[in-house]
Amino acid sequence: MKPSSPDRDAAPVHLPHAPLPAYYQPDDAAKREAFLRRTFDDTAVDYNRLEKILGLGTGSWYRRQALLRAGLKPGLQVVDVGMGTGLVSREILKITGEPHRLVGVDPSAGMMGQAHFEQPVECRLGRAEDIPVPDASADFVVMGYALRHIADFSAAAAEFRRVLKPGGQLLILEITRPEGRLGHALLKAYMRGVVPLLARAVSRAKDTPMLWRYYWDTIEACVPPQQVMQTLASSGLTGVERHVELNIFSEYRARG
Ligand SMILES: C[S@@+](CC[C@H](N)C(=O)[O-])C[C@H]1O[C@@H](n2cnc3c(N)ncnc32)[C@H](O)[C@@H]1O
Repeated sequence: MKPSSPDRDAAPVHLPHAPLPAYYQPDDAAKREAFLRRTFDDTAVDYNRLEKILGLGTGSWYRRQALLRAGLKPGLQVVDVGMGTGLVSREILKITGEPHRLVGVDPSAGMMGQAHFEQPVECRLGRAEDIPVPDASADFVVMGYALRHIADFSAAAAEFRRVLKPGGQLLILEITRPEGRLGHALLKAYMRGVVPLLARAVSRAKDTPMLWRYYWDTIEACVPPQQVMQTLASSGLTGVERHVELNIFSEYRARG
């Protein structure tokens, strides 16, 4: 499919989705952030297993293909933002084989505590809105399935621009609600009907079924792709485009 480009009329985005009062007090950024930190910390022990079973994290193979499509290769200095349990980082290492050129960043110590690699990888506590790496130090920045969780996407886009070397590559992976009614209804039925049952059956942490319910609610409430692209373009990133697989897997790409 031909990649799409940003819409000049779309406004840049701060919060990536409307507040969700079923989970935290709306209009209170600190409460939203505390809810997310607690939820990811408390459910980290189940993340890899659930992600594998549900398939909607799209698996290791898909992550690796998306990294290759964006041009990842050995020799690049890479930052994995929102690294979580390291599912993207592991695929980065399969391509580059260079753990010393990879830094992972995440606000959840619990998630990073579940990241296991054959050779040591540097994991730093931090957020997309304030990435703990120097200016113009990265050739390749990737953020996998964390876009919906950040508090200020405009600030994150400015940070991607700051940390990328001129011409460096950004890749954001995210699940996007399908455009057609049928696709939307099918995905919703799966995420709202099947996923909570599976999560209840296999999880060890009590909040894991809630996390996966929240996962769908944030997909449904997320701003449209055109606004994501416009926000990246507004930060000064160039060549912003979106590649879509299977009508739901969005790969946003841009250059520093
Ligand atoms: C669904 S997990 C994705 C983990 C991993 N990238 C993957 O592909 O499986 C989302 C991650 O985003 C992290 N996160 C939440 N808020 C964030 C922020 N403001 N900046 C960066 N990461 C954030 C969470 O702690 C969590 O580890």
